[in-house]
Amino acid sequence: MIAIYPGSFDPITLGHLDIIERGCGLFDQVIVAVLRNPGKTPLFTVEQRLHQIEVATKHLSNVRIDSFDGLTVDYARKIGASCLLRGLRVLSDFEKELQMCHTNKTLAANIETIFLATAVEYAFLSSSVVKEIARFGGSVDHLVPSHISLELSQCFSTISTPNSLPMKTSIVQ
Ligand code: PNS
Repeated sequence: MIAIYPGSFDPITLGHLDIIERGCGLFDQVIVAVLRNPGKTPLFTVEQRLHQIEVATKHLSNVRIDSFDGLTVDYARKIGASCLLRGLRVLSDFEKELQMCHTNKTLAANIETIFLATAVEYAFLSSSVVKEIARFGGSVDHLVPSHISLELSQCFSTISTPNSLPMKTSIVQ
C-alpha cells in the first residue's frame, strides 16, 4: 500500500521525520509530497525542501520524495496512493485535520486519511517554531536534522529583515 505524506515542510522537522519513519513501518511506500503553494511565501524553495527531505530520509529505503500542486487527492490518484498520512500533535490540530480529512473524503471516497499521534517529545514542534527560534539566533539542533540547522543559520545570517535585527531598547522616563 502506498501512502502520501503531504505538507509544506518549510523546513522538515524531527517531528515530521518521526511520522515518516513510523509510516515506513506501516506502508510499502511513503511518498513525502511537498505542496507547491503559490499562496504562501516559504523560507525555502520547493527544490531546497525536496533536497532537505531527501538527505533527512536517506536511511529509509521505502521513501520517495516528490512535489505536487493542486488537490492532494488528485495527486494521490495520479500516483496510485490509497492513503494520506498526517501527524496529530495537539487538540487544535485535530479540528483542522478532521475538516481536511472530511473534505478529502467528499472529493475521493476511496482515499483514506491515517493519523499518527506525534511522538510526545515533538508535540510542541512546528516548522514555524523552528524558523522563529532560528531567526533570533537560537539553537534548533534538537528540533531539525543537522544539515537543516546549518541551512537555517546560514539563511538568517544573510537575511537582514527588520524582524531579524535585535530590538532597540528605549528608556521610558
Ligand atoms: O504542512 P501543512 O501546511 O499542514 O500541509 C497542508 C496540506 C498541504 C496537506 C494541505 O494544505 C493540502 O492538502 N493542500 C492541497 C490542496 C487540497 O487538497 N485541499 C483540499 C483539502 S482541505
